[in-house]
Amino acid sequence: MREPDYVVDEMISAKAIAARVEALAKEIEAAFAGTEKLVVVGLLRGSFVFIADLVREIDLPVEVDFLEASSYGDSMESSREVRILKDLRGEIAGRDVLVVEDIVDTGFTLSHVIHLLRAREPRRLETIALLDKPSRREVEVRASWTGFEIPDEFVVGYGIDFAQRNRNLPFIGKVRFPRG
Ligand code: IMP
Repeated sequence: MREPDYVVDEMISAKAIAARVEALAKEIEAAFAGTEKLVVVGLLRGSFVFIADLVREIDLPVEVDFLEASSYGDSMESSREVRILKDLRGEIAGRDVLVVEDIVDTGFTLSHVIHLLRAREPRRLETIALLDKPSRREVEVRASWTGFEIPDEFVVGYGIDFAQRNRNLPFIGKVRFPRG
């Protein structure tokens, strides 16, 4: 297979991300003040860098768990199916839960995950997305906290991939194809 012929233009610097993550962590700390333990659920794989930075800024007792969901389009219809590829290891009934997502795009993934986890009756369920592309939304859903709203661009870096590449970039960049 040929390597994709694209370039990555920086959109959000590592410094800007770090400052935003710190600010979001303070808001989360305030929102969950007094919690016995906050279960921070990272959606694999795109959130792995974000969750790693975020939990280290949250000064509360935390437990970290992961969920892997896969969404794919049906070419005949605009509806989407979301499959759970890896479920949580722990129970969340009666607990305080924060779901950590990399990007909210159409919204199918986050709304499905919220629905799934609410059915398990957590005490409180909140969500955080590093990036939000509101112009792409097909399902009415909004994260409790959002790092940055971005335009309809395909982005990579800080855990986010393009065909499994570029997850290790320290910044968020947009993918550009120089020859169209
Ligand atoms: P949604 O169900 O359409 O909201 O899909 C969200 C998921 O699609 C994210 O968790 C990402 O894995 C992926 N995604 C959406 N936009 C981008 C992008 O610009 N770059 C890389 N992955 C993306």
